[in-house]
Amino acid sequence: MYAALKSIGAYVPKKVLTNQDFETMVETSDEWITKRTGIKERHIASENESTSDMGVEAAKIAIHRAGLKIDDIDMIVCATISPDYLCMPSTACMIAAKLGRVNVTAFDISAACTGFIYALAVAKAFIESGMKKNVLIIGAEKLSAIVDYSDRTTCVLFGDGAGAAVVGATRKKAEAITDIHISADGNYGDLLMTPGCGVKKPCSEQVLEEKLCTMKMKGNETFKIAVRTLTSDVVNILNDNEMKASDIKHFIPHQANYRIIKAVGDALKMKEEQVVLTVHKYGNTSSASIPMAMNDIWESGRLRQGDTMLLDAFGGGLTWGSALLPFAGKSFK
Ligand code: UT7
Repeated sequence: MYAALKSIGAYVPKKVLTNQDFETMVETSDEWITKRTGIKERHIASENESTSDMGVEAAKIAIHRAGLKIDDIDMIVCATISPDYLCMPSTACMIAAKLGRVNVTAFDISAACTGFIYALAVAKAFIESGMKKNVLIIGAEKLSAIVDYSDRTTCVLFGDGAGAAVVGATRKKAEAITDIHISADGNYGDLLMTPGCGVKKPCSEQVLEEKLCTMKMKGNETFKIAVRTLTSDVVNILNDNEMKASDIKHFIPHQANYRIIKAVGDALKMKEEQVVLTVHKYGNTSSASIPMAMNDIWESGRLRQGDTMLLDAFGGGLTWGSALLPFAGKSFK
């Protein structure tokens, strides 16, 4: 039995924060943000909208597009760094309940921006082992809840949203996920972290005052390691599978920074039309960024059944990963 990616869906909250909006909030400019990141705007969830609410909306679309009903789903995996609740219950459990699915396997994955690729690997392993048939994987983030909007070095980067996919069992090798690499190096954990509100620094007046429950990033160091690591990782996955960059129809990288995407794309000699870009309109949505980007090209008709995709991501942990797979869902219209 093989595992295949059978559908994609996404949810984007309505409210938009533009670079011009940030000019009134912190000392920054549209010019700086555009030049250094490629971001022009990002979407922000409403006060009442939680990570699981956004995940549910994306999931409903993905299940429908896979031609399934919620009862056909036998496992729900949610990748997120902005869960509804700090420790429990998991966001996957909340999503399952809101979808009306009980007696189902449901759990979260904490692998930051690489979370969707980790979830894809977990789904593949469960399906290939014969333990599950239809796994719903979700990347959902309300990063606006863990951003310090007085810190210009991070607040301009992040946005909210969710993406979801159904990974299902198939006997057709041509539909199967080809390969996935997932890695981590915890020695670099301090480059990207939320230092407070875990057991190391439990929530206290001081933790709240110093905003230690928000994301802190050593951006420039992270940038350099990201470019180096992602480039070697995608080269390795292509070599391992005897493929060339020109065999890839859609290169769908994590959307953190246009300059990182460009550097990795150039190193692979990817053509502009192969590289999927959404960072300008969504910013960095962590685990949601790859499925949101995949959904964008599906809805615009660019992603067709059978197209070969190369995914890559890098994030807090540090974690990184890449995946090679055909799109096994139906084409749009
Ligand atoms: O998704 C998870 C993984 N995350 C990433 O991969 C993100 C990786 N890092 C990056 O994308 C980039 O490092 C950033 C976009 C975060 C920053 O760009 P940079 O070119 O590395 O800038 P920098 O941190 O070296 O800062 C350059 C200057 C500094 O001023 P001084 O010290 O040179 O006077 C910053 O204070 O830019 C300043 N700066 C800003 N200026 C205007 C930092 N943020 C801003 C801002 N507006 N928003």
